[in-house]
Amino acid sequence: MSIYIDPAVANSLRGFEVPEKLGFGNVMAPVMFRAVYQDGCWSRGELVPYAPLALDPAAKVLHYAQSCFEGMKAYRTQGGGIALFRPERNCARMAHSAERLCMPAVPEALFMAGVRTVTAYCANLVPATSGESLYLRPFLIGTQADLSVSASTSYEYYVIASPSAAYHAGNMRLWVEREDSRAALGGTGDAKVGGNYAASLQSIARLKQRGYDQSLWLNPANRNLIEELSGMNFFAVIDGELHTPALSGSILEGVTRDSLIDLARDLGYTVHESAIDIDQLLELVQSGNCEEAFACGTAAIISPISELGDGEQRYELAHAPGPVAERLRAELLDLQEGRSEDRFGWMQAVEPVAPE
Ligand code: COI
Repeated sequence: MSIYIDPAVANSLRGFEVPEKLGFGNVMAPVMFRAVYQDGCWSRGELVPYAPLALDPAAKVLHYAQSCFEGMKAYRTQGGGIALFRPERNCARMAHSAERLCMPAVPEALFMAGVRTVTAYCANLVPATSGESLYLRPFLIGTQADLSVSASTSYEYYVIASPSAAYHAGNMRLWVEREDSRAALGGTGDAKVGGNYAASLQSIARLKQRGYDQSLWLNPANRNLIEELSGMNFFAVIDGELHTPALSGSILEGVTRDSLIDLARDLGYTVHESAIDIDQLLELVQSGNCEEAFACGTAAIISPISELGDGEQRYELAHAPGPVAERLRAELLDLQEGRSEDRFGWMQAVEPVAPE
């Protein structure tokens, strides 16, 4: 696939320095990939200097939230190479999200060209510290200027990148959200769309005032089953076995969730994908049968959960981080950072490009 490389890209990349101390998603790589959909066709992709978008104030994305995105990472591997982790899974999920919002899927070749081109040109920006990476954020927006409630006729696909540390390093305290819902039955909970995250913000603002870090969302119908944490999936270790909520239609199918299930089974753990009743789980934490719990996601990797708050009650996990979370995190990072053999065939190497 031919990609246009704006001559200004070389200048943007030259002289860009990655700060020594990285947070998550606040340092932006100086280039981005863009492709435009109009009249039923995708344009050629182009790599251009990172810059604000020019959007008509009546663009559908600004009013009716026609917007979906992905989170994925490029890793510096042992020996100095660069590799992406299961990018085809992100491509497929973005196609699912796009379909749910009545948007055209980004064709796989174009999606991959976007993430691979940005990664190749930003190879020097991929951090070498374990746990850090080049976080890639592909996104798709409806751009037609028209205030009628209907699907846009034009779209733009972008890939931006950010050299980043893990999203939530350290232990997390979760608040059991019994008031708001993140997703509705038949809604967009299993799609990675901006609106799901907007719907989580009020809860997060409330729980921060109480000293918590993240909401633990329950199923929207009865609010008795654990779903997820907005940007991460949930795992509990009960009597030495792993439990994660089965995909319900309103839970996002995390690539890290899916990978950890395979990895844990390969390491000999029993993994259950089934409904987890919140009240039963809290009892198991109290009785000590649930020894540890953790959240996982592309950005977060694995974040141990130290406490669950439910109204006036606090439930402390015995181990945070627990041995299972620590082992899985180390095994996953060993694979992603090339210290262990890629036995699942999850890694895709990217050849760096030095801009002239
Ligand atoms: C990711 O893990 O990539 C996500 O998209 C979560 C985001 C809220 C940081």
